[in-house]
Amino acid sequence: MTIHSDIALPHINVLNSTMAYREAGDSEAPVVLFLHGNPTSSYIWRKILPMVAPVAHCIAPDLIGFGQSGKPDIEYRFSDHVQYLDGFLEQAGITSAFVVAQDWGSGLAFDLAARRPDFIRGLAFMEFIRPMPTWNDFHPDQIETFQKFRTPSVGEEMILEGNAFVEEVLPAATVRKLTEEEMSVYRAPFPTPKSRRPTWRFPNELPIEGKPADVYSIIEKAHDALAESSYPKLLFVGNPGALISPAFAESFAKRLKNCRVVQLSSGLHYLQEDHPDVIGSNIKEWLIDLSIDSSPKQKVRLS
Ligand code: BEZ
Repeated sequence: MTIHSDIALPHINVLNSTMAYREAGDSEAPVVLFLHGNPTSSYIWRKILPMVAPVAHCIAPDLIGFGQSGKPDIEYRFSDHVQYLDGFLEQAGITSAFVVAQDWGSGLAFDLAARRPDFIRGLAFMEFIRPMPTWNDFHPDQIETFQKFRTPSVGEEMILEGNAFVEEVLPAATVRKLTEEEMSVYRAPFPTPKSRRPTWRFPNELPIEGKPADVYSIIEKAHDALAESSYPKLLFVGNPGALISPAFAESFAKRLKNCRVVQLSSGLHYLQEDHPDVIGSNIKEWLIDLSIDSSPKQKVRLS
């Protein structure tokens, strides 16, 4: 089979490994940081970055263990991602940013905002992570699968041996059919069972019914901070969505300060693959409305 691949991304050293990133726009413009989720990479933002680049310095890292980033021998717990993302921001000299996030990228963004309120200038988010008191809060079609992912041995067999997050969850939660070329890019970081460990860990970190206790508590605190925060917010929601339905998004946004909802048409979890143009143009307009060009310029140490 022909393997079509993505462009080779630049890397920076972070802790004991390296992190890759995609970059677009003027290197001295205000930063927009794009954070992806499981099992994707900065590749999921590939059509959105060029749309936002005319007004911003777009930087999209590959989370540690994902995309073209390194795969150090760590547990790939949420706390590991926090450490590596902090390391990436420190190494790159990014001290504040507008953040655009989906899935676990949103968990990282909420946590970053809670720990460093001065960092966040605005947050656009979609299909986001939240504490789920019961399994009834989870996407009904995916409950059985995710309960299996969280069952010892069964989850490892499905995800580490069967590569289920890439081969099953990703195509099932995208409305259009991903092309063979796109699938080959998403497969490339995960050729062996060991390499897939980061994709197994994330469903095991989802804060459901109080477990895992440490992640549940971090995400609860991060949502408390989100509810208190006043920075501008933009929430994209697909129909019917996967983690977030249109009705849930509207009621959630009403409880936040300064949050606008953009209703997309048909979409599940990987909204960037189904609606890159609408997402890209709304982010650009949102940034212009927020007078991004009058934000302080930032000299970032990349490329
Ligand atoms: C998740 O990664 O959390 C997820 C993926 C697809 C559907 C629902 C949840």
